[in-house]
Amino acid sequence: MAVPESSDAFVFFGATGDLAYKKIFPALQALIRGDHLDMPIIGMARPGWTLDKLRDRAHESLEQNGGLDPDAFAKLSARLQYVGGDYQDPATYEHLRRALGGAARPLHYLAIPPSMFATVVQGLASAGCAKDARVIVEKPFGRDLASAQALNRTLHEVFPESAVYRIDHYLGKEAVQNLLYFRFANAFLEPVWNRNFVESVQITMAENFGVQGRGSFYEEVGAVRDVVQNHLLQVMALLAMDAPVGRDPDAMRAEKLRLFRAMRPLDPKRVVRGQFHGYRDEPGVAPDSQVETFAALCLHIDTWRWAGVPFYIRTGKCLPITATQVIVDLKCPPVAIFDEIHPAQSNYFRFRLSPEVVISAGARVKRPGEEMVGDAVELVARHSLAGEKSPYERLLGDAIRGDASLFTRDDGVEAAWRVVDPILHTAAPVEIYAPGTWGPTASRAVVAGGEGWHDPKPEESPPC
Ligand code: BG6
Repeated sequence: MAVPESSDAFVFFGATGDLAYKKIFPALQALIRGDHLDMPIIGMARPGWTLDKLRDRAHESLEQNGGLDPDAFAKLSARLQYVGGDYQDPATYEHLRRALGGAARPLHYLAIPPSMFATVVQGLASAGCAKDARVIVEKPFGRDLASAQALNRTLHEVFPESAVYRIDHYLGKEAVQNLLYFRFANAFLEPVWNRNFVESVQITMAENFGVQGRGSFYEEVGAVRDVVQNHLLQVMALLAMDAPVGRDPDAMRAEKLRLFRAMRPLDPKRVVRGQFHGYRDEPGVAPDSQVETFAALCLHIDTWRWAGVPFYIRTGKCLPITATQVIVDLKCPPVAIFDEIHPAQSNYFRFRLSPEVVISAGARVKRPGEEMVGDAVELVARHSLAGEKSPYERLLGDAIRGDASLFTRDDGVEAAWRVVDPILHTAAPVEIYAPGTWGPTASRAVVAGGEGWHDPKPEESPPC
């Protein structure tokens, strides 16, 4: 396979926006520190800014988000350019063309609302800025299946699929990659990783904060579009897919696609949507908003490996804790020799994806003494996050080098929308829940029988 050429300029649209402030500037500084970004960096934004103002914003962003490295910042500042202009105006792209100078393979990052994609992509093409270029597009990629298909058509009018990088920062997380690594680097897991041994799977992404001033963005999306269609279905795919055949990026994406296609589209009657009390008072939120800040649902995968195994997904804002965790519950022993075993599900695998990175196996061991009774214990592998790359540093670096492994492909993103599409236009009202609780009471019934939801708990520190 030919090694792709690296990009030779980094252009980001939405340079004065929230994403640039929180994630892109810190990632750029880290890439510069690692010597991976020796190229022009061009911030695109609406008129009214100056280069100095943009530098100040970058400075503040770094101070607020991870820390300023004076040497790296000096280089970032020197390479930074600002091109201001209306995205509708062809002159904006002419300015960009001039700012690109001799760069022949720019990487354009569209950190802007999807409604602007078509305009910007056409603008880039008309000014000759799209030739041999790559483009990164943010999630959510569209609003539903039809709009994602339309967006793909729009992008493909200008960029071949191989030049399109759909970003999902969850895929850049170390813990998420570890799911794949742990599954396919250890032979002991594969024999039990199927319907014969797995009772059910639960994925919980809980956040103990609200929409943090992003009310108008959130009104457009809601929890299902914001994190289920992308982050959580990607996690599910990594948990459930078969091993890729080959090492090229498309081998992995092909397996994920097979898995998404085997997922049964969601039944609106089996989904609980909630909204935290107080959401409607947020700036930018409609007083009668029906947008969900919580969702709980059950998915099925119609394959030989997973037939009959429920995959439960739950996410919400203003829950009791911030943690993302997967529990793979194994079936009970076939015969109850020791009838003290409670809860029944004490054999499981647990993957804590954030904020800590932990993989553990739940098991029972006998308590010392005459009686045949035991305790539930966990065999824990813990991973330190010190010195780790942020997901954005990792993913932007990959895109610059032309490695698309951790980006979603057109068919994959459409297949994921197909799964959630039936619940996007549901008219059922949201149920209001109190902040600091585990969402609407109706969500408890989503998990059939057994022990109910496994609520993530604060992670215990490792013994000294
Ligand atoms: C983003 C969502 O994609 O992911 C946010 O838009 C969410 O609503 C965030 O809070 C969570 O990501 P992380 O990496 O902070 O866990």
